[in-house]
Amino acid sequence: MEEFQIQSIKEDDFLAIAETALKCPPMATERNSIYHIFAKFFNNTSSVVKTKDDTIVGFILGFISQINPQDAYIHLLCVIPSYRKNGLARALVREFLDIVTRKGCSRVYLITGPKNNVAIAFYKSMGFEPAGKEDKIEINGIDAVKDYNGPGDHKVVFCKPLK
Ligand SMILES: CC(C)(COP(=O)(O)OP(=O)(O)OC[C@H]1O[C@@H](n2cnc3c(N)ncnc32)[C@H](O)[C@@H]1OP(=O)(O)O)[C@@H](O)C(=O)NCCC(=O)NCCS
Repeated sequence: MEEFQIQSIKEDDFLAIAETALKCPPMATERNSIYHIFAKFFNNTSSVVKTKDDTIVGFILGFISQINPQDAYIHLLCVIPSYRKNGLARALVREFLDIVTRKGCSRVYLITGPKNNVAIAFYKSMGFEPAGKEDKIEINGIDAVKDYNGPGDHKVVFCKPLK
């Protein structure tokens, strides 16, 4: 079994993160400036998973709300296809949950597309449940928040309480 390391993102990882994200549809991708912001200002809640030879094969980008410090948010999570089903995303999310729990958070939120069956199965396996008080629309057998990101852009809002 190959060895992997989870590390906090370093500022100069941001271009490698951008390249990794391009290999991970249907996840949305960002402008490089957004990856740079996470690598520079949110690297205490954002991690990469690397192979022994230092290649980034997955990452998690997250932050703690400045308004409600008990709330943490996972913005992007991915593992490149050839490294999936090895428990790497689970390890990245566990690391994030440990970090934000230590920092006093009591909830973690994230959103995903209602047709992203793999992400939905993954997050449910990690104990996330659909949340949100807004208008719901059932898509693909799951409750999404209607027009969450604008007209027609429905999203599943997942939340996990932390102990
Ligand atoms: C979702 C994603 C991050 C999962 O990464 P991964 O490293 O393969 O996931 P893990 O190996 O840690 O899987 C943990 C659990 O999630 C579930 N899971 C993972 N992949 C799954 C799949 N293809 N189908 C069903 N369940 C799946 C399983 O319960 C799995 O546990 P098991 O292996 O004991 O059965 C990866 O598929 C990915 O990068 N997808 C594209 C990007 C994306 O959509 N990101 C999420 C939205 S931001």
